[in-house]
Amino acid sequence: MTTNRTTPSTALITGGSSGLGRALARRLDQAGWVVVTDARDAGRLHDALDGTTVHGVPGDVTDDDHRAELVEIVADLGGLDLLVLNASTLGPLPMRPLSQYQPADFVEVFRTNAGAPGSLLVALAPHLLARDGVVVGISSDAAVQHYETWGLYGAAKAALDHVVLTFGAETGLTTYAVDPGDMRTPMHQDAFPGEDISDRPLPESVVPHLLALLERRPESGRYLASDVAVRAEASA
Ligand SMILES: NC(=O)c1ccc[n+]([C@@H]2O[C@H](COP(=O)([O-])OP(=O)(O)OC[C@H]3O[C@@H](n4cnc5c(N)ncnc54)[C@H](OP(=O)(O)O)[C@@H]3O)[C@@H](O)[C@H]2O)c1
Repeated sequence: MTTNRTTPSTALITGGSSGLGRALARRLDQAGWVVVTDARDAGRLHDALDGTTVHGVPGDVTDDDHRAELVEIVADLGGLDLLVLNASTLGPLPMRPLSQYQPADFVEVFRTNAGAPGSLLVALAPHLLARDGVVVGISSDAAVQHYETWGLYGAAKAALDHVVLTFGAETGLTTYAVDPGDMRTPMHQDAFPGEDISDRPLPESVVPHLLALLERRPESGRYLASDVAVRAEASA
């Protein structure tokens, strides 16, 4: 993403203490962006951002006060160029057929993966619109395919896609639903307990594709990260 302004670009990435959120936050920080991120575990968030200038804000994205705090921080920073709705939950573990979830599980997974990020997006819209900003909802292949035991998570990811892309259509904001593909992260290990996941790519390998998307800025829509070509020097 390029900007003609003299001020650096500002990003808010939810879930920055691990996995893809951490990798993207650290990469944008290196590139000179002002980056804000959050996570529930304050100690892990602090450690994950060690050696960076990323603003780590402990909190749960489903908490109204925490989201209000994030919006206030963005206002204090003077605006927002990029919102990455990355934090999410698989729901109760182990993942299970839909018939084995409790009603409260449905509420919690939809709240975390779609409701709270949708509310954050709406609250931040004035800041994003003022900067012609970009929104990236981190999706999953489970949002469009129907694997046994992935139904609740996948349905909530489909809801996030719908919220993000519809909001783009309603407001003119550039919005993307991006499937990052399998990544070697704690969430992925939770989904495959006891399985060796060392063959899955690290989340750092997805970041150049996200940066290429931001740089190229194609039309709003759903993208597979690996389909967004990376210039050779950008992937180095
Ligand atoms: N890994 C994969 O193979 C894969 C595949 C497709 C899509 N995805 C998607 O990619 C995104 C990143 O996943 P990942 O694998 O990188 O996960 P991860 O390594 O488990 O990291 C998740 C991050 O989100 C934070 N988080 C979780 N719930 C939160 C909440 N309620 N409020 C604030 N922060 C919260 C976690 O910190 P705390 O726990 O301390 O809050 C952590 O920083 C997710 O949207 C996931 O659905 C992952």
